[in-house]
Amino acid sequence: MRITPSLLNADFAKLGEEIARIPSADGIHLDVMDNHFVPNLTFGLPVVESLRAVTDRMLDIHLMIEDPDRWAPGYAEAGAESVTFHSEAVHAPVRLARELHRIGARVGVALNPATPASALSDILSEIDMVTIMSVEPGFGGQPFLDIVLPKVAQIHSMIHSSNLDIWVQMDGGVSPETIERCVDAGADTFVAGSAVFRSPDPDAMVNHLRTLATTRFASCGWGQQ
Ligand code: DX5
Ligand code: ZN
Repeated sequence: MRITPSLLNADFAKLGEEIARIPSADGIHLDVMDNHFVPNLTFGLPVVESLRAVTDRMLDIHLMIEDPDRWAPGYAEAGAESVTFHSEAVHAPVRLARELHRIGARVGVALNPATPASALSDILSEIDMVTIMSVEPGFGGQPFLDIVLPKVAQIHSMIHSSNLDIWVQMDGGVSPETIERCVDAGADTFVAGSAVFRSPDPDAMVNHLRTLATTRFASCGWGQQ
């Protein structure tokens, strides 16, 4: 069970310090938005390069941008350990995944709430992580969409039956109230933005979320499969 907090609700004036507040996190989720693929604008490669220079934490880049084929390799070249692009935006997913692997990054593919699991079925063997959006992408602090849970279960079973080692990441509205449902459906990696950075003790919240997920995992039966 991995917790990868999103900096979207952190203080953008001091991102380096915000990262230092969550030493227990398994990675740092960075939401890149271009105001085209989503109706919001955050930061791009120069900010990621600056963060790379001040931290050796795992950087988990979530590209909510058009034309990831053009932009994603730069993030891998900057030293991000994981680069995720959207299934709805990519033109040549196999070529892009192979290029990211060649540079040395893990590859994630993200699905919007209304995108079916079948969008992934032919490229699963090319990727390391599936990110299932449990909010419409673009903003932090939105309520969790339970309607995506059957898709998480479907993807978990596609991965399991193909004997692949692929992380299933849940992104959007993950909190102490929702994380156990995500574990039940088969998720193992959790992005939490507002739950962590609006908490008075962000690192304690990271540990709390991981404990909830791990305890649920031990009792829900996936571990025995
Ligand atoms: C949504 C982003 C997220 C998200 C996380 O477009 O991809 O990573 O904002 O924030 P919370 O946990 O507040 O939904
Ligand atoms: Zn994200």
